[in-house]
Amino acid sequence: MPILVTGGAGFIGTNFILAWLAQGGGQVVNLDKLTYAGNRGNLAHLPADSYELVVGDIGDRALVGRLLAERRPEAVINFAAESHVDRSIHGPAEFIRTNIVGTFNLLEALRSHVSGLSATELAAFRFLHVSTDEVYGSLGPGEAPFSETTPYAPNSPYSASKASSDHLARAYHHTYGLPVLTTNCSNNYGPFQFPEKLVPLMILNGLSGKPMPVYGDGLQVRDWLHVQDHAQALMAVLRRGRVGTTYNIGGRAEMANMEVVEAICSLLDELAPDPKIGPRRSLITHIADRPGHDRRYAVNPDRISAELGFEPRHDFASGLRETVRWYLDNGKWVESVQSGEYRSWVDRHYSWIDGGQGRKGPAGQGGGR
Ligand code: NAD
Ligand code: TYD
Repeated sequence: MPILVTGGAGFIGTNFILAWLAQGGGQVVNLDKLTYAGNRGNLAHLPADSYELVVGDIGDRALVGRLLAERRPEAVINFAAESHVDRSIHGPAEFIRTNIVGTFNLLEALRSHVSGLSATELAAFRFLHVSTDEVYGSLGPGEAPFSETTPYAPNSPYSASKASSDHLARAYHHTYGLPVLTTNCSNNYGPFQFPEKLVPLMILNGLSGKPMPVYGDGLQVRDWLHVQDHAQALMAVLRRGRVGTTYNIGGRAEMANMEVVEAICSLLDELAPDPKIGPRRSLITHIADRPGHDRRYAVNPDRISAELGFEPRHDFASGLRETVRWYLDNGKWVESVQSGEYRSWVDRHYSWIDGGQGRKGPAGQGGGR
């Protein structure tokens, strides 16, 4: 039986599908709307008997219902989402449409599907909803990392929409007995990440000698997990997770943004030195902070570690080195995603930050917001 992956043409979905198939998993049907973040080419090399792309929307209940009825997957893994906080600040509507209404429609199609399964089929079926640690809000410096019982306190339209979808998934388990598993993961990095996010943006700007834009003082803290570790964690949850349970996934790697950016500068200076650009640190440019910027995320991964034996394999230093190499070695991929849409986002977003409402230059020296 196949699995149905939604949003598999994006960053984490692509890495998950590659890992799933490399480890002998069954056929994958990938339902993806191919938004700006979805890339058909990522998986185009896979043989047709192990991978099929269906272009469509998780919010299309009839399409999802048909796929479930015809392909009878043993599991559905939902990666499909609008995923970038800054875009959610510019335009929250699409986040409401896909992350909330889309997930609702997906759940409705699943509810209808499982109502027709035999008891044995239902016992084997799983719906894995992939979510984020951002639903828990922001931590102070000394506060304990997020556990699965930390109350939700989302602060951005993105995290609020993901929180909402998590609540819906939970309710469909509680009320209708849908076999739901939910994961809340920290910041991922690795191959195939769209260069609007911190790590690939900094790698590519640094590589080409453009300013490396750090929001505010750059001392915001994130926990970083290599995307291939995330894929392994998701497989463990899918195969052995307790139905109805949430698992927090993290890398035990809390880092301030400035530490991440400086590490990228050092790696670029070593792996792609360019005398015309000089030391990459000179490109670091502090710009106005993100509105409502969460100060710190940190994840307590004890449950997934104790119950499922999951531990990340990559340490941040070697994982980041591998990631920088991947972007250096995959210029064609980079070119293909830096389309007109990407350029218009960069122009729109970074000029908005540097323009009248914000400040350019070192944090604390400008007007702020
Ligand atoms: P991404 O933006 O790279 O990819 C999202 C994919 O979903 C794209 O292929 C896009 O085309 C597709 N999509 C968007 N709307 C759709 C719709 N309505 N119907 C079908 N497909 C649609 O995102 P990502 O970074 O791979 O994240 C995947 C999931 O993991 C998201 O749910 C995100 O919230 C969650 N997550 C991401 C991170 C991270 O650091 N990137 C961390 C924790 C959790
Ligand atoms: P991001 O990759 O957007 O992930 P998230 O906001 O979901 O954590 O950003 C990671 C951190 O990097 C976050 O604190 C915001 C910061 N950041 C910058 O300083 N400059 C940038 O240009 C971007 C995109 C992010």
